[in-house]
Amino acid sequence: MSEGKPLVGVDIGATSIKICQLKEARSGFALAKFGYCPLEPQTIVDRHVMNSQAVIEALQRAFTDNKISQRDVALSVSGQSVISRKITVPIMTIAELDEQIQWEAENHIPFDIKDVNVDYEILRRRPEAGQMDLLLVAAKRDEINDFVQIARQAKLRPLVVDIDAFTIQNLFEYTRGLPPEQTFAIVNVGATQASINIVSRGSSAFTRDVANGGTYLTEQIVKQVGVPFEQAEEMKCAAAQPLAASTLPAKVFQVIETVCDSIAGEIQRSLDFFLATSGEDRISKVYLTGGTANLPQLASAVERRSRLASEVIAPLERIPIDSKDINQELARQRASQLSVALGLAMRRMKEKRV
Ligand SMILES: Nc1ncnc2c1ncn2[C@@H]1O[C@H](COP(=O)(O)OP(=O)(O)OP(=O)(O)O)[C@@H](O)[C@H]1O
Ligand SMILES: [Mg+2]
Repeated sequence: MSEGKPLVGVDIGATSIKICQLKEARSGFALAKFGYCPLEPQTIVDRHVMNSQAVIEALQRAFTDNKISQRDVALSVSGQSVISRKITVPIMTIAELDEQIQWEAENHIPFDIKDVNVDYEILRRRPEAGQMDLLLVAAKRDEINDFVQIARQAKLRPLVVDIDAFTIQNLFEYTRGLPPEQTFAIVNVGATQASINIVSRGSSAFTRDVANGGTYLTEQIVKQVGVPFEQAEEMKCAAAQPLAASTLPAKVFQVIETVCDSIAGEIQRSLDFFLATSGEDRISKVYLTGGTANLPQLASAVERRSRLASEVIAPLERIPIDSKDINQELARQRASQLSVALGLAMRRMKEKRV
């Protein structure tokens, strides 16, 4: 593989696998290959793969069916087993930092340091204060290894393992840019988790994953409306459509309001914590993505709770679909769920992020 060639982005989510391969034209990236494969409930629980054979088979099928021949892939991990913290250390050389970083991680990361991979990024050098700001990232080795092993068993070559929050930021940087004077949040609300990333001065300053999302919402419809899971899922997706009100029980909308409000509350707690601890005084906007961001009730709840503007971003907004091989209707229908896979598909360096 040439160093510069983009990898295939493979996002193994709780409810589906998303695969994107980009090609580069003079005008920028275009989507060259696309795969979407739903996973049965209980295949992945709390980000742990319970049925690895099902994931391996889904990956193999998705690569074959969608004629994806490149096997060099980028994966990502997320959830409670990934932590990032912005820390300040005295100015030192890279060699010194490489030595020091394990010790810093022990002080700042609430995991047993033996179980995690640690990485860092220098955010800012402040020679006048004799200090530098770092983003410290730790991910549990078990989870990384699980995903890497599964990809290998599906005959893929995982070259990069990133974390969801950073891959989405990567995509956002491409589609919107990261204005250095602004502090804003990007929140990916999927099926089982909401990943919050606060971007400040052009880089991530805070990340947190909250266990809440679309699956929990559907389960609440099951309980409170008294319908099977499949039907509850259909009702939820129908409620995201304009003019849905006339055909659905009012209770469905009440449940959606309640769960969206609790997700918005979690987001708000993170924004408050960041403002209280970072020295920053203002967050300008909350950008939303992920499958659950299809519900307009989520953006409204976030605006109500945070009193900030919110916007649902369309991951494909600057990435045209450029291949006859792609099921365009499916790609557009699933567009909001593609941020992680697209961000991964922009990775090309042969390095491990976590
Ligand atoms: N049109 C829609 N309206 C409402 N909800 C939707 C819609 N499309 C997808 N969803 C919900 O979005 C969730 C899937 O989103 P996504 O693919 O981002 O999550 P995931 O990656 O599978 O999960 P996680 O990130 O938690 O591991 C499901 O709960 C699904 O019900
Ligand atoms: Mg996801």
